[in-house]
Amino acid sequence: MSHNTPNQPAGTPEERVARHLKKDASLLAVLHAIQDETGYIPADVIGPLAQAMSLSRAEVHGVITYYHHFRSEPPARVTVQLCRAEACRSMGTEALAAHIEGHTGCKFDSGHQPDTELETVYCLGQCALSPAMTINGELYARVTPQKFDRLYEAARASAEDLV
Ligand code: FES
Repeated sequence: MSHNTPNQPAGTPEERVARHLKKDASLLAVLHAIQDETGYIPADVIGPLAQAMSLSRAEVHGVITYYHHFRSEPPARVTVQLCRAEACRSMGTEALAAHIEGHTGCKFDSGHQPDTELETVYCLGQCALSPAMTINGELYARVTPQKFDRLYEAARASAEDLV
């Protein structure tokens, strides 16, 4: 699993939609393809997408906002997902969360600030190796504050390289 880096895809919004319109493709499948390419669902593709799928703009917008997976704005350069479910909580995830907020200067679940996003998730399937987290889609287990600092700074440095 890798992080969806915002790209600058070529073409008009109509062309960008057309690229992902496969025969019998569902709206969800096309939205996934657009987000995989761009990192989010740009507002300017909603009209062409609605038209191509014989839906209203409101219907397309409703699907985008209903599914937490879809983003309406570019993702942060570094996205941290911290598991705060039971097994991880028993291994100190709340203290780790406080450390992460202090280290990054960001708050969990409140959007980008300014280039990092901290998200709470519930179980990453690593309960025996808790606390668990992802950084830009890469999974890490048995995370300590020191390990987080190292991984976070490496992710920031690698995001710099992409700019
Ligand atoms: S509870 Fe955290 S990975 Fe399962």
